[in-house]
Amino acid sequence: LKAQLTIDPAQQVAPVRRRTFGTFVEHLGRCVYTGIYEPGHPTADADGFRGDVLALTRELGVTTVRYPGGNFVSGYRWEDGVGPRERRPRRLDLAWHSTETNEIGVDEFVRWSRLAGLEPMMAVNLGTRGVLEAVDLLEYCNIPSGTTLSDLRVAGGAKEPHDIRIWCLGNEMDGPWQIGHKTAREYGRLAAETARAMRMVDPGLELVACGSSGSSMPTFGSWETTVLEETYDLVDHISCHAYYEEKDGDLGGFLACATDMEHFISTVVSIADQVGARLGSGKKISVSFDEWNIWYLSRHQSAPPPPDWPVAPPLLEDHYHLADAVAFGGLLVTLLRHSDRVAAACLAQLVNVIAPIMTEPGGRAWRQTTFHPFAQAARYASGDVLLTEPVGPSYETGEFGQVPVLHAVATHDDRFTTVFAVNRSVTEPLELELDTRALGAVRIAEATTLAHEDVYARNTADDPERVAPRPNTSHRSDPQRIVLPPVSWNVIRLT
Ligand code: AHR
Repeated sequence: LKAQLTIDPAQQVAPVRRRTFGTFVEHLGRCVYTGIYEPGHPTADADGFRGDVLALTRELGVTTVRYPGGNFVSGYRWEDGVGPRERRPRRLDLAWHSTETNEIGVDEFVRWSRLAGLEPMMAVNLGTRGVLEAVDLLEYCNIPSGTTLSDLRVAGGAKEPHDIRIWCLGNEMDGPWQIGHKTAREYGRLAAETARAMRMVDPGLELVACGSSGSSMPTFGSWETTVLEETYDLVDHISCHAYYEEKDGDLGGFLACATDMEHFISTVVSIADQVGARLGSGKKISVSFDEWNIWYLSRHQSAPPPPDWPVAPPLLEDHYHLADAVAFGGLLVTLLRHSDRVAAACLAQLVNVIAPIMTEPGGRAWRQTTFHPFAQAARYASGDVLLTEPVGPSYETGEFGQVPVLHAVATHDDRFTTVFAVNRSVTEPLELELDTRALGAVRIAEATTLAHEDVYARNTADDPERVAPRPNTSHRSDPQRIVLPPVSWNVIRLT
């Protein structure tokens, strides 16, 4: 198979946005407890934060971190997680059938985010709570001092305001599984009134309204229209959430799952623009793709019910293989290609729960296969995203019809042009011809490939480097020709 890609630095889509490389930490399973936080772990600091997880988080290159949920947030009282630890209540977490100890709350979380060099993105509970509790949390976090709530934060040791700039107005309120699930009109009104009140505290906040929990939701489209009719002038972003898994052994279809993400983003953008046009608004709403990943949701749904109310049980601990990482890389390509309208994105989640980083309680931490495409994209996507339209073969999928074998994007800064490319062919290598004439004289500074003879190969604590990027030398120093193995994620850096 052969495909061509023309790279022209004059064809810019938008600057690479650092918030594309966000992540998500939810009070769910072992994400917080024995994930980011485990006092007594050999690498833990004085606050109980695991040093090995912090190091991997930094290496992953994530930029923002959404918190505290997720479905969890819709039953959460943020006040439970502040003040002296010994007085914090233990509560039932209905969303995940667990016990929440509240050892970690907003102050500890923000401290951890700053240690990891991440911007916190806070979600408020609009499932079982409302305007007042959201404004109280904002006051607690962002007002320097001089009010009861801000002074409570200061008394707890957080002298400086947390200054959280981006806030999610609830989570997946379109989902019947959500505690306090609402119709679009009910949610739209509540989100509008919450946003209005939050802006009275701080007009400069960035606010995210809940969009659809997936493009296959029965309300997809009408939900966005109604919610934006209610909130258009008051919010900046509308969320999208999407998870993908290989179904019925259809690997080719799975590797093309970014096709759904493409359709999801472009549909939401056009709905937002239509609502804006009808309202006579010059403002553009952008997308916050604040949950995305590979998730074997069907396995989770068919698993036996958990025992009663455990603390930090192992939940949603998917072990990713090479093919998962390649499909995942395709999703990153799509997010980058839409940088003109996708303002933020969060890989859901960070540790243990459908995560690129895994840990053993009290023991080792390691990189899952999906760690690698993310870390490379976060590290090397820089400058501007370029408009690149691959020319080449396509193949038939049950779910998406004909899809291109090559899925790719390029970014360009003063020093490097970097191509991120997925070969979706299950059987064939792909010879990629790069038309680099518009770049002048360039050479390949580095080319790596993530592939494996066993597409279902995984990393484990005992064999953590089994699937990792390796040098691709098939170009033999020719910057215009490189071979991408079947089922592979590739990064080619030209200079
Ligand atoms: O990320 C896991 C769960 O997926 C989140 O809690 C929820 O928002 C989504 O359905």
